Amino acid sequence: MSRFFADRALGMKASDIRELLELTQRPEIISLAGGLPNTNAFPVKEIAEICQDILKNDSHKALQYSATEGIRPLRMALLDYMKDQLGVGGEVDNLIVTTGSQQALSLISMAILNPGDLILTTAPSYVGGLGAFRSYQAEIDSVAQDNEGLVIGSLEDKLKELKLKGIKPKMIYVVPTFQNPAGVTMPEKRREEMLELAIDYDVLILEDDPYSRLRFEGEEVKPVKYFDYEGRVIFLGTMSKLLSPGLRVAWMHSPRDLSRKFAIAKQSADLCSTTFSQYIAYEFLNRGYLMPHIEKIKTMYKRKRDIMLAAMDKYFPEGLTWTYPQGGMFSWVTMPEHMDSKLILMRAIKEDNVAFVIGSAFYHDGSGKNHMRLNFSHSSDELLEEGIKRLGTTLKKEMEE
Ligand SMILES: Cc1ncc(COP(=O)(O)O)c(C=O)c1O
Repeated sequence: MSRFFADRALGMKASDIRELLELTQRPEIISLAGGLPNTNAFPVKEIAEICQDILKNDSHKALQYSATEGIRPLRMALLDYMKDQLGVGGEVDNLIVTTGSQQALSLISMAILNPGDLILTTAPSYVGGLGAFRSYQAEIDSVAQDNEGLVIGSLEDKLKELKLKGIKPKMIYVVPTFQNPAGVTMPEKRREEMLELAIDYDVLILEDDPYSRLRFEGEEVKPVKYFDYEGRVIFLGTMSKLLSPGLRVAWMHSPRDLSRKFAIAKQSADLCSTTFSQYIAYEFLNRGYLMPHIEKIKTMYKRKRDIMLAAMDKYFPEGLTWTYPQGGMFSWVTMPEHMDSKLILMRAIKEDNVAFVIGSAFYHDGSGKNHMRLNFSHSSDELLEEGIKRLGTTLKKEMEE
């Protein structure tokens, strides 16, 4: 049936690890693969209470269509939250509620990308971002990343090189805090320098921030958006990792002209995000439940991070290094150059019943084979330790051969 596909659909490829990851659903497999919150982190009691109240008092609104940009009380509450938590001000026109941040990535792509437009990102970068840009036929190029996120010298060199070739990238895409996949965070100085370069070369910045509130230790770092004095940063926030990904409530905070266009794009995508979920998120914020809840899950995730890192020290063979995330959900493992995480994953699933995500999924050009992403938020404490132990066994076998 491929003759019926649009040109852009030809560029949409199922990930070559999808089948492998399907195997990870088998009950005997311990999966360190998904980027999922822990199910014990869902505030079921509070959500049940809120749902009952909404159905009793507001069902006529909550079960109805709502404004494309989102219900106004939630937009106002999210603006307050951004001001309090991130130091970022704004007007209601700057903020649109989206159906997950993943929708924001698509809407931005829909509204600003022509086929062949260039996006710059880090290597590695969030796989869902790469997918959204690709599905709108963008070209993707990458700049280096180290333990402090995007390397400014590498970005500057890339921008200069492109300018000499007459190529102007449209946007720089970053996950600057507790990055998915590497868990690393850009210091403020780099954020400011990146913004200055974006201004010099007239490029937009897309700041994707699902994880910054999940900081277990270390100094707070201000978002790139905080430094955005002239309005070229689009900021994405989401309730997925703080409250529940099933609600699909997220938001984008953008300069007003862009915001207007994104709202038009959203109209054709889904008319509005689920009204009921928006009321739940609003009430969760309004009743003051969010911040205490975040404190609770931070305690849980810090413990899990510590369990995972200690187990890696104990069970992983010599010759591997990994990141030490101060928050978020992931650690990123680097193996010797010759090792191929796809082969290791196949072996880990078949022989040792454990799974992770291979490094190359996060590289636009399929490189990064000697890396793997490990998630510590989803598994129980016991399975987390056992999963790392099993993976250590696979890695030792692989290295001995
Ligand atoms: C960096 C990043 N951006 C966006 C998303 C998508 O989040 P949402 O559930 O809000 O669509 C994720 C989810 O893992 C993510 O890690």
